[in-house]
Amino acid sequence: MSTSVEKTLLSVLRTIPDYPKPGVQFRDITTLLGDASAFRRAVDELVHPYAGQKIDKVAGIEARGFILGGAMAHQLSAGFVPIRKKGKLPYDTVRVAYSLEYGIDEMEMHRDAVTPGQRVMLVDDLIATGGTAEAAVKLLRQMGADIVAACFVIDLPDLGGRKKLEALDVPVRTLISFE
Ligand code: PRP
Ligand code: ADE
Repeated sequence: MSTSVEKTLLSVLRTIPDYPKPGVQFRDITTLLGDASAFRRAVDELVHPYAGQKIDKVAGIEARGFILGGAMAHQLSAGFVPIRKKGKLPYDTVRVAYSLEYGIDEMEMHRDAVTPGQRVMLVDDLIATGGTAEAAVKLLRQMGADIVAACFVIDLPDLGGRKKLEALDVPVRTLISFE
């Protein structure tokens, strides 16, 4: 049965069939972000288990993880770390290749964005195969981060991403799922 947060978020999400390629049901969060109370609710729900805990950094995955992550960092009084597609960050980076539901890419993080032992929360809008989040976990751990949790508004459980992260000992928090 859906909880009230699931109902609220489902009511403002939009699905675009066959985007960016045939067969993909694209879960579009821009409608959620544009709804003031739904956006606040999503951010509050993502952070509330961690309120009062020491979180040094929120690491957001480009692009929609930046929007959620900035708001979460503010709520948690944490710093923000951008994890970006290759070639976008100006300073020394660590880089990792990863595969997507619909392609291959590389992502980067500044080498000095986290220091060893810092407690980091990872965030993105959605987890599908988990390839993107797994790559972000590799970057963060390469720099010695302690990953407290990985948070997503949407889970596509049939694609196995949550299990992939849990197998890496990363606790996963999601708000709604599409089977
Ligand atoms: C989407 C989404 C996640 C990723 C999830 O981003 O925002 O980052 O896919 O897929 P995965 O779990 O199979 O790796 P996308 O690759 O579309 O990039 P964008 O944010 O730049 O649009
Ligand atoms: N990233 C990977 N799969 C996706 C989907 N179905 N909707 C939105 N973003 C995605």
